[in-house]
Amino acid sequence: MVLRVAEFYSGIGGMHFALKGAGVDCQVVRAFDINTVANDVYRHNFDGVPVMQRCIESLPMTMFEALRAELWTMSPPCQPYTRQGLQRGSGDERAKSFLFIIDLLERLQNKPTYLLVENVAGFERSDTRAMLLRQLVRTGYRFEEYLLNPLQLCFPNSRTRYYLLAKLGAEPQECASDCEFPAHFRHDVPGASLIQPAADADGRVDFERGIWHHDEVRRVKQFLEDLAPEDAASYRLPQKILDRHGYVHDVVTPDDRRTCCFTKGYTHYAEGTGSVLQTAGVVGVDPMTQENTRYFTPREVANLMGFPASLSFPSATSAKQRYRLLGNSLSVSVVAVLADYLLHRM
Ligand SMILES: C[S@@+](CC[C@H](N)C(=O)[O-])C[C@H]1O[C@@H](n2cnc3c(N)ncnc32)[C@H](O)[C@@H]1O
Repeated sequence: MVLRVAEFYSGIGGMHFALKGAGVDCQVVRAFDINTVANDVYRHNFDGVPVMQRCIESLPMTMFEALRAELWTMSPPCQPYTRQGLQRGSGDERAKSFLFIIDLLERLQNKPTYLLVENVAGFERSDTRAMLLRQLVRTGYRFEEYLLNPLQLCFPNSRTRYYLLAKLGAEPQECASDCEFPAHFRHDVPGASLIQPAADADGRVDFERGIWHHDEVRRVKQFLEDLAPEDAASYRLPQKILDRHGYVHDVVTPDDRRTCCFTKGYTHYAEGTGSVLQTAGVVGVDPMTQENTRYFTPREVANLMGFPASLSFPSATSAKQRYRLLGNSLSVSVVAVLADYLLHRM
């Protein structure tokens, strides 16, 4: 039986790629996103999937009922929960659409059997998480929560994210609106082989320090494009940036087994938006120059995030837009492992 999927906050289709990667026989019956550039990329990759370019919270109940989707995937906006942001949580305007979906679950006649939610690390401390879990208890879902990082799957890229898997079938229970839930987040997925990060004395895990130097993590060079010199030149860091901000970059070499999280600000802001690649000399000893240091290409960022070679962009999508879209997307490899577990073993 082909699984009917609704992909909310579809972006460039990270969830769809992950389901394909996990070998799930599925049909995305509708994708939802308000970003026109993302939607062009989505249509370019998934011909025939209807993409709805409307605010989710403006859609009528009848539309959700008519989907008859068994799996809802959701990676709602992360700005209300990011460490860099104001962490307004549910009070943030950008949380509105997800709160709408949470509320909807109670009223739906055709509830999805499965839910898969992805968000930034930080979401697990938010009031939105508590509201979501209370609703799942009331509506008869059992659920599991995860904090995972693609380093655990030997990808040399750090992207710690919160994931929730839920499956309909529990007895609906009353749940008070001040009910709190223990902070129990799994770092392993049953039936999958993930490197386990070491925990500190308080039980907190540090994926990066714990795994970066693990021999099983693949080297960055396995994810690089074979760039002709003239193509490599277009990824050079501008001299002005090297002079003013060179030192704040996270610098890695092809032999390293790590890169930091690529965000939508990559190449626009120097600090905390993703690593740059030093192709010659010794990091920290030899100065970064335009000849020995470059940005990762969008294709390389996609490789590090686990996107398949089949991901492609319309030629009109600029490099800057590609970085933004990829930075907003997700670790396809991690979601594939979770989807496989949710649909087959949970
Ligand atoms: C974190 S990104 C999800 C990216 C996606 N999973 C991917 O693989 O590219 C959140 C997405 O939600 C979209 N979005 C934000 N608010 C929305 C709303 N109210 N209705 C529909 N889409 C919305 C944004 O345009 C953005 O593409």
